[in-house]
Amino acid sequence: MKKILVLHGPNLNLLGTREPEIYGRLTMEDINRRMEARAKRASVGIDFFQSNHEGALVDAIQQARGKYGFIILNAAAYTHYSIAIRDAIGAVEVPVIEVHLSNIHKREEFRHHSVISPVVMGQVAGLGLESYLAALEAALLKMGAAE
Ligand code: DQA
Repeated sequence: MKKILVLHGPNLNLLGTREPEIYGRLTMEDINRRMEARAKRASVGIDFFQSNHEGALVDAIQQARGKYGFIILNAAAYTHYSIAIRDAIGAVEVPVIEVHLSNIHKREEFRHHSVISPVVMGQVAGLGLESYLAALEAALLKMGAAE
């Protein structure tokens, strides 16, 4: 059984104190621990990586090939303009679920468009922590690992 990779993009390391009225008060570590506990119950390995750098995220997506069964990706601001991340997703065969804590569709106009959406399996947005947990549940179900 392959593992799941969770990728957090720029500024998500500041969760907890960053615009809590939009992103809530949970830290990235809190989110990771909740996902880790769920994956553990399903006996599926899960790794986490955060970067503020586009190239580091591209490297992580490329290196996921053959190693991970799913990527859960919050590309943060890169969602809206990173063709490099979009191309990396398109280049690897690993299915990706795009997640956002906030509902990007009801925020500023520039957040409505995701350049990565056309190359991902699906998107979960606006549910806070539960965006990640819903994406994880979907990945486990698709991997045949959910109880
Ligand atoms: C975000 C939404 C993006 O527009 C924003 O740039 C982020 C976080 C979210 O999780 O709601 O950094 O991806």
